[in-house]
Amino acid sequence: MAVLIVYFLLSTVLYQSSLWALETHLEPAMASELLESAREPEFFEWVRRVRRQIHQYPELGFEEERTSQLIRDELDSLGIQYKWPVAKTGVVASIGNGERPFFALRADMDALPLQELVDWEYRSKVDGKMHACGHDSHVAMLLGAAKLLHSRKDTLKGTVKLVFQPGEEGYAGAYHMLQDGALDNIDGIFGLHVIPSVPTGVIASRPGPMLAGAGVFWVTIQGKGGHAATPHKSRDPILAASLTVVALQQIISRETDPLEAGVVTVGFIKGGQAANVIPETVKFGGTYRSLTSHGLSYIKNRIKEVIEMQAAVHQCDAVVDFNEETAVSYPVTENDEALYEHGKKVGEILLGESNMELYPVTMGAEDFSFYSQRMPAAMFVLGTKNESISSDQPLHSPYFIIDEEAFPIGVAFHATVAISYLESHAVATH
Ligand SMILES: *[C@@H]1O[C@H](CO)[C@@H](O)[C@H](O)[C@H]1NC(C)=O
Repeated sequence: MAVLIVYFLLSTVLYQSSLWALETHLEPAMASELLESAREPEFFEWVRRVRRQIHQYPELGFEEERTSQLIRDELDSLGIQYKWPVAKTGVVASIGNGERPFFALRADMDALPLQELVDWEYRSKVDGKMHACGHDSHVAMLLGAAKLLHSRKDTLKGTVKLVFQPGEEGYAGAYHMLQDGALDNIDGIFGLHVIPSVPTGVIASRPGPMLAGAGVFWVTIQGKGGHAATPHKSRDPILAASLTVVALQQIISRETDPLEAGVVTVGFIKGGQAANVIPETVKFGGTYRSLTSHGLSYIKNRIKEVIEMQAAVHQCDAVVDFNEETAVSYPVTENDEALYEHGKKVGEILLGESNMELYPVTMGAEDFSFYSQRMPAAMFVLGTKNESISSDQPLHSPYFIIDEEAFPIGVAFHATVAISYLESHAVATH
């Protein structure tokens, strides 16, 4: 009996101490030390130089050979071990004692097929390609975090995995990283994205759903071409496509609960060459989005039905392709509540409570969501808006600019989140 009582007392104490540990296992002094290190001129210059190098040579999804090489060169010179190749160009580095808990920090590496229109010294040297989504800075900041973590490697209470992944922009690179098994046994993963709508010096996120699930569709409407003056001898795919595009808008406006978010956007339409010819075919395509997996599959099924039936009304045929072999649709990005709270606490200690904001849900999408389906995951955004240098242009704009002054914050945030995660969870599992 006495043994039992002692057992209960002990387990209560241990339970409470582990909760307490989870709550507070972050020394404010350590956080500011990490931030100070990342702000040292030499350190900052190095992170900025890495970012600018990647910015000048942008590479599209699964073509990130040069970027991957640069990452490995930097890891080599820091003396950090890594696994490569993962998902073709990906790199997964390890820092720590090689044991659990395993906590991952993720950066994406790819650029966009877009002509840079910013006139500055380090603009893209590759025509038609640009880092307009800040992945160049994500890589540079994660390398910065690698350096900070490596300098404290003997004190880490577990292992940090640094995940440099290919193909975020529509190629489901995260999905392929998981398929390659490089992230098995990870206890939690954390991602950081620069955001030009939030001021420099501020970090934001939210618990639960944060970004939409998204898929793409490609359509060919097959008609019968002919002379524009004898429409009755043709089957006009232009008219069929026009009414189909309009009909698609009713999936959201008439079939989706007004209190649920959904998007159907037709982003391109191509057909015909001459004013006096009815063409054989018209092609169009777009994206559909929802904040629930149920909503996503409903919209997808209805897109197919509406297009096929509308085409039939006009005596045309339609082929709807969801491009599932090459473009896996992205699930909803959902932040784990506990991991969100952890990141929020770190942000508050690092930057002060007023600089840690609640980020609104948006219908953007991220392949980080594949991680969030498999393990506790949290995505945060790092403010880079600074009007004095016009870094308030949206992501994917040819005028997109990053306030590089935000880099030390991103570097220190990554490192602090990881170190304190390991400390909290190492104590909790004792
Ligand atoms: C905005 O940019 C200017 C010029 O680089 C800099 O002096 C200032 O500190 C930046 N503001 C913030 C909030 O970082």
